[in-house]
Amino acid sequence: MTEKTTRVDMEKIVSLCRRRGFIFPSSEIYGGLSSCWDYGPLGVELKRNIKEAWWRAVVQERDDVVGLDSSILMHPQVWAASGHLEGFADPLVECKECHLRYRRDELEGDRCPSCGGELTEPRMFNLMFKTFMGPVEEEASVVYLRPETAQGMFVNFQNVLNTTRKRLPFGIAQIGKSFRNEITTGNFIFRSREFEQMEMEYFVKPGTDEEWFNYWLEERLNWYVGLGIKRENLRLREHSKSELAHYARACYDVDFLFPMGWSELEGIANRGDFDLAQHARYSGKSLEYFDDETKEHYLPCIIEPSAGVDRSTLAVLCDAYDEETVAGELRVLLRFHPVIAPYKVAVLPLSRRENLVKAAKEVYNDLRQCWAVIYDDAQSIGRRYRRQDEIGTPFSVTVDFQSLEDNQVTIRERDTMNQIRIPIAALRSTLQAKLAGENLFVLPEGGQVWKEGG
Ligand code: GAP
Repeated sequence: MTEKTTRVDMEKIVSLCRRRGFIFPSSEIYGGLSSCWDYGPLGVELKRNIKEAWWRAVVQERDDVVGLDSSILMHPQVWAASGHLEGFADPLVECKECHLRYRRDELEGDRCPSCGGELTEPRMFNLMFKTFMGPVEEEASVVYLRPETAQGMFVNFQNVLNTTRKRLPFGIAQIGKSFRNEITTGNFIFRSREFEQMEMEYFVKPGTDEEWFNYWLEERLNWYVGLGIKRENLRLREHSKSELAHYARACYDVDFLFPMGWSELEGIANRGDFDLAQHARYSGKSLEYFDDETKEHYLPCIIEPSAGVDRSTLAVLCDAYDEETVAGELRVLLRFHPVIAPYKVAVLPLSRRENLVKAAKEVYNDLRQCWAVIYDDAQSIGRRYRRQDEIGTPFSVTVDFQSLEDNQVTIRERDTMNQIRIPIAALRSTLQAKLAGENLFVLPEGGQVWKEGG
C-alpha cells in the first residue's frame, strides 16, 4: 500500500478542536493536567455518536452479543490472574541531567533526546494506577484503576451464561474508561492516561477460533469504513511473534494513517483460553462451558476486538478534515458521515426579524424531535454556513422572507455547498432521505434547485 503524502497536521486538528469546542486540555485554568483531555459540547456529541454506532453494530444489531457495564475498581486478584500485576510494565529510563523520563523501547539512541544527557539503566515500570479502598492506606487495601475493560467481561462469563442462556459462540461487550500510567503520552488524544475503550470478548468453541478471528478482522475493518473513514487510510497489520502480548495466539491491529503516520486504532486478538483458565485457577471456580451437543465440558477460546474511543474520535476528525479555497477565501470543513456528525442539521433564519425568527423556531422545534439540530442566528449567513462547515453539520436549513410567503425553505449541503428549495411540509422526509445518503438533487414534489454562490 502506498502512503499518502498530504496528511493534515495535528496542530490544525488540535486548534480546530480547541476553537470550536470539541476538546480542551483538562483543568486548563490551572495550566492543564498532562495527557488528560476534556470533551467540550461538540466533542461529547461526536464521541457519543461513535460509541452509539459501535454499540449498535456490536450489540444491538446482533443476536449473539450482549452488553455489560462492570465496575472500574475490581478485586486485586483479577490483576494477578490476568498477568497485569507482573507483566503490565514498560522499560523506563530517566535522564540523569534533566530528569525527563522515556520508554527505553521507544528511544532511538542511548542519550536523552531532549538534552543529550546520560540515561539511567532501564527499570520495569508498572502502568496500573494504584489507589486505596476504604479509609486505611495500607498494602492490604490497595486496588487498581482498571487498565482495560476486558477483565470485567471474563469474570462475568458465568453470570452472563447463566442469566442469558446464551450458547457458544457468543460475546460480551462493554464501553468504559480505562487508565494507564503511560510513561510517554502525546499526539493529542492518541495516547493519554485516562481513556475510553470499546471492547468485546467473543467466546467460541476451541478449534473454531481461527475462523472467528478472521471473521472479526473483517467485521471490524468494515465498521470503520461504515463510519465514513476512507478505506485507503485504514490497514490491517499482523503482529510479529515477538510483539504478541503474553495472552495472545495471534493479533492484528487496525491501523489508521494519523498525522504522525500509521498507528493503532484497534487491536484484534485471539486470546485462546488463557483468560478463563487463569481466572478459574486464581478464583477456584470452574469457568468451563457445557456443550449440550457434544456433552463435553471445556474452556472456550476468546476472540477480542478492542477499540479506543478517543483514537476513533481522533481518526474521524483527521479523516474528515478538509480545506478548500472558495471565492478566494479558505473554507475549512469536517466532512463527517451524518451518523457521527455532532449536529445533523442547522436551522438558520436569514435575519433576526421577529416574524422570521418565529417561523425558523417552528422549523427548529419540529426537526429537533428527530435529530440533534442547532439553531444559529448570529452574524451573516455566509459566516454561519462556514461555522457549520467547520463543525461538520451536513445540512443547513435557511428560513428567509420568501419562506413566509411560500412556505418553502432552502437546504444547503455542506460538502458541495449546493442548495435546493423545498416545501416545509416535505422537510422532515427530505432530510431523512438526505441523511441516509440520498442525492441532494432528488427533489420532493414542489421542490426546486436553488441557484447559489455558497
Ligand atoms: N484488552 C486488550 C487491550 O486493552 P490494547 O491494545 O492495550 O488492548 C486496546 O488496547 C485499544 O485501547 C487500543 O487499540 C487503543 O485504541 C486504546 N488504547 C490503549 N491505550 C491507550 C491510551 N493510553 N490512550 C488512548 N487509547 C488507548
